[in-house]
Amino acid sequence: MTKYRRADPEISRRKFINVALGTAGAVGGLGLVTALAGVRPPNRITAGKVPAIEGDILVYAEGAQSGQPLKASDLTDKITRAWPQGKDKDGKPVIKKDEPNNLLIVFKFPPAEIVAPTDLKGVQDGVVAYSGICQHLGCQVGDNPSKPETILCPCHSGAYDPRAGCKVIGGPPPKPLPQLPIKLDAGGVMATGSLNGPYYGLTESDWKSLLEEAKTI
Ligand code: FES
Repeated sequence: MTKYRRADPEISRRKFINVALGTAGAVGGLGLVTALAGVRPPNRITAGKVPAIEGDILVYAEGAQSGQPLKASDLTDKITRAWPQGKDKDGKPVIKKDEPNNLLIVFKFPPAEIVAPTDLKGVQDGVVAYSGICQHLGCQVGDNPSKPETILCPCHSGAYDPRAGCKVIGGPPPKPLPQLPIKLDAGGVMATGSLNGPYYGLTESDWKSLLEEAKTI
């Protein structure tokens, strides 16, 4: 009986590049560029790129406290930017800032102001977290000085309501900012799961694959 072995991804990749190089000789430089554009290195994510997962703590992404754990008591109804921090295989802390789409925005509102479609199970004491990257074309969202109850994407004026699941309330974004479920832990903020939908640029299916791949890191 024939036995099948899982292909070594590095060998497959090298084979593919060799084929691409051979093909390029026949069809010209553009063929090479096109072929190589589709080559993804094996193990394309690293501990610094893995999406936020349960148990990650959130750390400040900017300012004097950059890299330090968020203090829940310092959060406000304005944006605080944060990165998830997980651990590598050796248990060493890793801030997941090598993937720009891992950027988060975190708020603290009076709890009664937070309404559906926010996932209230992922909110504690008015603290709520979302992806900080616009779902239209991937710009960073920011506070909206002229309409402070909303947040605004500066690129094409996309607007979201952070008290209502970051649903879209203006402009071209096609869907809400995904929410990161959190809980408060030792005065800080800890993820209790992953974003409840794909961050910018990924389909649902790609997102699921990425989360699966993340388990192998
Ligand atoms: S990138 Fe945000 S509205 Fe276009």
